[in-house]
Amino acid sequence: MITFDHPADMRNWSDDAHRQGKRVGLVPTMGYLHQGHLSLVEIARRRADLTVASIFVNPMQFGPAEDLERYPRDEAGDRAKLEAAGVDALYMPTGANMYGPGYQTTISVAEVTSGLCGEARPIHFQGVSTVVAKLFNAVRPDVAVFGEKDYQQLATIRRMVRDLDWGIEIVGGPIVREPDGLAMSSRNVYLSPAEREAALALSRSLEQARCACRSGEVDSDVIVERVRSVVATEPLVQLEYAAVVDAESMQPVDRVGANTLLALAAQVGTTRLIDNTLLAAA
Ligand code: PAF
Repeated sequence: MITFDHPADMRNWSDDAHRQGKRVGLVPTMGYLHQGHLSLVEIARRRADLTVASIFVNPMQFGPAEDLERYPRDEAGDRAKLEAAGVDALYMPTGANMYGPGYQTTISVAEVTSGLCGEARPIHFQGVSTVVAKLFNAVRPDVAVFGEKDYQQLATIRRMVRDLDWGIEIVGGPIVREPDGLAMSSRNVYLSPAEREAALALSRSLEQARCACRSGEVDSDVIVERVRSVVATEPLVQLEYAAVVDAESMQPVDRVGANTLLALAAQVGTTRLIDNTLLAAA
């Protein structure tokens, strides 16, 4: 696995791959990799000839009171995992190589980012779309894979790629869960044992909602109420939002339809967790 820390070097490698007729796949990450990330690498490998992973903890997507300083890091462990997973190149830009002196350009995707996590994290998606745009320009992928756990992020990137005529195929990778149902996240490491146990209310509430849907419930208010009542059984979990939205526009819908997402965010102790599920009417 070859490592690059400068966009020009990364781009040269990718241009060379394209000259040889190879398809390049990208899995963007912030490191501290778990099985969820590695499942995205697997998807990228199936869809491309050469796979690039990027690791960059992007300051632009963290709010002033968020966890940028304590965001977990494990460069040696990440390298070993990516190497074992068959990644061909690692792009790990330095902060200065990503945002040089005088940096002032951002990309914002309006409607898709207006609700859900966009409400509590007003600058978050602007930071995400800006850094992903820069990763795309450095890596020049033909296909890029993003986890469905951050579904609003995935929808934002899809919209950005379509709006800016990038022609990059964007693929969503299914959420990978721990055996007890907790969605894998680098932030799970912050949870105390009691919080870890309480956090299971989130996946449980989604399962109950799916179950209600299977039995014919399509009313969004009823489904959200079901989620609230399950989460309310855990005092350590404070629900920030639960919402039924169109999975492309991220706008609220009254009823479950063809492409409907139930998304939630919650505070568990000092840790903010998100989870979601697609819903299908019976
Ligand atoms: O999902 C993430 O890890 C990050 O938001 C991403 C896409 C790598 C951009 O920093």
